[in-house]
Amino acid sequence: MTADGAATSSPAARVERLIAAVVAAWRAGATRGDEASDYLEAAAAVVLDSPERRLSVPSDQPPCAHLDDLPKPSAVDPAAVTGALLAARDALAWGAAYPELAGDSRYDTFRAAYAYTELVGPRGPVVTGRLSAFFTIQGPGVLYPPHAHPAPEVYWVVAGTARWRRGHEDWVARPPGSFIFHRSGLPHSTQTENEPLLALAFWTDHLDGASVMVGDAAPRR
Ligand SMILES: [Fe+2]
Repeated sequence: MTADGAATSSPAARVERLIAAVVAAWRAGATRGDEASDYLEAAAAVVLDSPERRLSVPSDQPPCAHLDDLPKPSAVDPAAVTGALLAARDALAWGAAYPELAGDSRYDTFRAAYAYTELVGPRGPVVTGRLSAFFTIQGPGVLYPPHAHPAPEVYWVVAGTARWRRGHEDWVARPPGSFIFHRSGLPHSTQTENEPLLALAFWTDHLDGASVMVGDAAPRR
């Protein structure tokens, strides 16, 4: 139980506290003036303009166990998103990635280590058709193979340092606090090393466009 009684508050209250923390983090990020800033400000505005809530039927996934092994929240998480997520964890619907790839052994390791939960989107909990925002948890020592989708995407690294790759660029270690922008259709991949990765991503367009794998595992470095 936390000092502010989060563990005893209602699921709706815990989810609402998480939403507020995310909006605060996005607004802080939007002041950086980089290529993600306009998207962050727009995403925060959509949430503030979307009062409808629809609580999910909670569901867990085995990779959620990695949430227990995240590095301690750092100064780059001033809005306390990590703590708010852990407090709301049991009120959220966690899903398995790429269910259509079940049975394809090339992706077994990745799929066994990765789960996500949508916080903003057509199905809620923040109900809107203008934005899809979701947390991802990826276990250590795992490659999220190259994939692409029509939606432009902004990632915020909440906890855990992993190596990220966009297109044919070099792999780059992205510590907590990093914002990573993927333009529409650009393949990208993520390699965790010795700690799990908690990230928050959002799409602002083409919300119905699927993310698809675009080839076999890329070299690690
Ligand atoms: Fe993506």
